[in-house]
Amino acid sequence: MKRVLVYLTVWLCVLSIVSSVSAAERIKIGFIVKQPDESWFQDEWKYSDQAARQFGFDVIKIGGTDGEKVLNGIDNLAIQGARGFIICTPDVKLGPAIAAKARANRLKLMSVDDRFIGPKGAVMEDVHHVGISASNIGSLAGRTIVNEAKARGWNLKNVGFLRMSFDSLPTIKERTDGATAALLAAGLPKARIFDSPMKTLDVEGSFNAANITITKHPDITLWIVVGGNDNSVLGAIRALEGHRFRADSAIGVGINGTEAVAEFQKKNKTAFIATILLNARQHGYDTAKSMFLWIRDGKEPPKITWTAGTVMTRKNYKSLMGLK
Ligand code: GLA
Repeated sequence: MKRVLVYLTVWLCVLSIVSSVSAAERIKIGFIVKQPDESWFQDEWKYSDQAARQFGFDVIKIGGTDGEKVLNGIDNLAIQGARGFIICTPDVKLGPAIAAKARANRLKLMSVDDRFIGPKGAVMEDVHHVGISASNIGSLAGRTIVNEAKARGWNLKNVGFLRMSFDSLPTIKERTDGATAALLAAGLPKARIFDSPMKTLDVEGSFNAANITITKHPDITLWIVVGGNDNSVLGAIRALEGHRFRADSAIGVGINGTEAVAEFQKKNKTAFIATILLNARQHGYDTAKSMFLWIRDGKEPPKITWTAGTVMTRKNYKSLMGLK
């Protein structure tokens, strides 16, 4: 009996040592996003969790809505034993401060969506980044509008272009610039561009900016709308509805896809006719997996990855989103 007890005790000790070693070895990474309430970022988190489950690591998620939250968040990650993090920063100009904090805490760093800007205004090319090919995707949004306008027999010379801009964020500026270039190439006169600068990159910011422009131009009878993401277009569509512009007198095309599904599920068509669906899985799953492999195996990810988009409409959204 005594022998059995001794064996058992020894075994329990071995087991507890093994399990504490493997717990200590379980890799943790951070995933900080600027707008945790936006579906796009919730999707990135969801996909990062999928990678974590598959590869056996943990993701600590932080809503980094301002500089202070981000910098404190990075310190907290280090305290919790994380070895690296992925971030979509609330302000690209925080890049140098974020990189310095990561270095001080010996954390590997990768940016997603919004690329860091250095002190001299140039992108920080030494920080690993995954972002969308913004100009091409903007151009695709513009061309999607042109096709719809043509199908409706609209003359681009007669429309007003609600350009929902947020120029302080380069990826968003590249998107709206790409769309504008495509519209101009298709015959939209420069004088029909009505820039509507958004104070905040959300539905409310878009609604307010669009309202000002629509009110200023009561002579316009047909509107087309482009913005840097779905929310930038959705707010404008709601503002247009408030001014009695509905599905037959306005055309809007978003970017992201995540916020568009609810719009497509509405029984009655709205003027939000399409969106450019981005690959949230690549931005969430692939980044988390790359960060994990970088920490575990020393496998450095590519310095830069540009991701693509697909036109999504009421017709194809179910198959593209895997819905029934
Ligand atoms: C920016 C936008 C998001 C989303 C991502 C995609 O961060 O704010 O809505 O479009 O880019 O990279």
